Amino acid sequence: MYRSHTCGELRESHIETKVTLSGWVQKTRDKGFVVWVDLRDRYGITQLVFDEDRTSSKLLEQARHLGREFVVQVTGEVIERSSKNPNLATGNIEVLVDEVVILNESKTPPFTIENETDGGEDLRMKYRYLDIRRNPVKNNLVFRSKVAMEVRKYLSDQSFIEVETPYLIKSTPEGARDFVVPSRMNEGQFYALPQSPQTFKQLLMVGGMDKYFQIVKCFRDEDLRADRQPEFTQIDCEMAFVEQEDILDEFEGLTKHLLKEIKGFEISAFPRITYDDAMRIYGNDKPDIRFGMEFGELNTVAQHKEFGVFNSAELVVGIAVPGAANYTRKELDALVNWVKRPQIGAQGMVYAKYNEDGSFKSTVDKFYDQEDLSKWAETTGAKPGDLICVLSGDANKTRAQLSALRMELAERLGLRNPEEFAPLWVIDFPLLELDEETGNYHAMHHPFTSPKPGQLELLETDPSAVRANAYDLVLNGNEIGGGSIRIHDRDVQSTMLKHLGFTPEEAQAQFGFLMDAFQYGAPPHGGIAFGLDRLVSILGGQETIRDFIAFPKNNSGRDVMIDAPAAIDQEQLRELNLKLDIKG
Ligand code: AMO
Repeated sequence: MYRSHTCGELRESHIETKVTLSGWVQKTRDKGFVVWVDLRDRYGITQLVFDEDRTSSKLLEQARHLGREFVVQVTGEVIERSSKNPNLATGNIEVLVDEVVILNESKTPPFTIENETDGGEDLRMKYRYLDIRRNPVKNNLVFRSKVAMEVRKYLSDQSFIEVETPYLIKSTPEGARDFVVPSRMNEGQFYALPQSPQTFKQLLMVGGMDKYFQIVKCFRDEDLRADRQPEFTQIDCEMAFVEQEDILDEFEGLTKHLLKEIKGFEISAFPRITYDDAMRIYGNDKPDIRFGMEFGELNTVAQHKEFGVFNSAELVVGIAVPGAANYTRKELDALVNWVKRPQIGAQGMVYAKYNEDGSFKSTVDKFYDQEDLSKWAETTGAKPGDLICVLSGDANKTRAQLSALRMELAERLGLRNPEEFAPLWVIDFPLLELDEETGNYHAMHHPFTSPKPGQLELLETDPSAVRANAYDLVLNGNEIGGGSIRIHDRDVQSTMLKHLGFTPEEAQAQFGFLMDAFQYGAPPHGGIAFGLDRLVSILGGQETIRDFIAFPKNNSGRDVMIDAPAAIDQEQLRELNLKLDIKG
C-alpha cells in the first residue's frame, strides 16, 4: 500500500495516527537540528518533520538529501504543529517521520513548482507535465473536469444520449480550413478531421436519437488567438422536433445550472438581442453587457455643421466613458493613438469632456457649441464627469473600431468583473455573409442552417437581407456557443447550396449523403454547440483557453513538449503514396 491518506487530508483529528503518505518533495528546510519537508500530491501539501530528538541520525541525513521533486513514500505519526499555518488545510498538523522510501529520484526541475513560478511560458509548455503539478494549472484542470461532469449530469437528466461520432471523415464546413489525414489503403485520398460533428448529429436525428450530446474534440486549421486552439472541445447537442424557442429554453437551463452549481451565481431569464441591434448598440455580435457604454449614433446631431470629417462619414458614433472627463491631455493623446494603431485602424478620434460643472470642452469646439455638445451627451447617455469618444467613417468599420475601444476602456476602468456573469442570446443572424474579397456569399453559421420562415424566396432577390434561425450564446463578451434550426428538406438544402455557389454535382459529391438522408423521413431538428474550453475559462474568470487545456498548442500551433508537428520518414511517405515537393 503506497499510502493510507493523501497529502491534503490530515487534520487535528488524525493526531497520534500512524499514516503512510506518498508524494513529491516540494521544499526542504534544514535548520540543522530539524529538517522540514513539504510533501505534495494533487490533494495538497503535508509538512513532514525530522528532528534530532525524535529521529535517528541516519533518517535525518536521508531527509537532508531529498531533492526537489523526488517521489517518496513516508510513514510516521501525525502530531500537532507548534507553529500552525492557517493558509494550509493541513496547517495544524505535521507528520513525524520514521521511515522514508525513495520511489523515484528527480533531476532538478527547470523551474520552481510552486504557485508563483520563475518559469517562462515557453519553458513551462515544454515541461507541461511539471507545470501541471503547480496549483494554478492543476486547479484549472480539476475545474474543467467539474464543469464537464455537471454538463453530463444535466443533459443526461434531460434525456440526452451521448453518442460518439467519427474523427476520420469528410470536410464539414464550419468556416475554417480542414486538417487532413492521408489514407494508406485508398491511394491519393484523404480524410478530413471534423471541424464539428455537425452532419453526423443531423444524421443521428434522422436516425431517431431525438436528443444527442457529445463532449467532443473538433479540429480547425485557423489563425490562433487567446480564445482559439486548433483542436478544442465542444459540448455538441442536437434535438429533434424543436423550434428555436425550445433550444434556447433547454440551453438557457444548462447555462443556469452551470452558473449555479459551479459559481453559486443565480440569474433569471437571459436577455435577447437581435444581431442587428447588437451591431448597432455595441458594434459587436458578442457584446459584453456587464457594463453600459452603449453606442449613440450622432449623425443627425453632428452632421451638417462645418466639420467636414463628420459630414462625409457614413456613420458618426460615440460612447460615454464613465468618469473619464478628468483624463489628462497625455492620457487622451495616448487614447487617440491607441485607436489609430493598425490593429484598430481609426483615422482619428474626436472627444468631448463633459465637465462636472455641466460645461463641455471638445477637440472640435471650433465647429460645435455647448448646445450641440449637450445633444451628443444626450445621445450617448453621458453624465457630468464623463468623456464622450466619437469615431466616424464607414459604418461597419467604425462600429468595429468603437467596439474595440469600448472593450479596452472597460478593461482599463475595471468594468469587466470576472466574478460577474452576464449571458445573453444573440438571435436573428443574417443567413449569408458577403466575402468582400471574392464577392461570393458564404453561410454565416453553416450551410445547414435554415432561413427564417418565409424568407427562402428572398435568397433570389436580396440575399444579404435573409435572416437565419441561428443564435449565439454570449457570456461576458465571448461567444461560448452557437447553433441553429436546420434545413431538413432536400430541395431547400440544394437551393441553399446553389446560393452558396455549389454546382449540383459539387453539392451531391460533398453533401449527397445528408441530402439523401433527408429523403427518408428527416424530422425537423436543431441544435447548438458550446465551446467547452471557452466556457470553462470564463467561468474560471479568465479568457485564455490555453490555461484550461492540459496539453495546449502554442501560438504557432505547435506542441513544443512532444515537438509536433514533425516531418515523417521517407518510408512512411512511400506507404502513404505521398511525395513531398517543397520548393524553397
Ligand atoms: P461554431 O462554429 O459556432 O458552431 O462553434 C461552436 C462553439 O465552439 C467554440 N469554438 C472554439 N473554441 C476554441 N477554439 C476554436 N478554434 C473554436 N472554434 C469554435 C465557440 C463556438 O461558439 N456545428 C456548429 C454548432 C451547431 O450549429 O450546432 C458549430 O460548430 O465557443
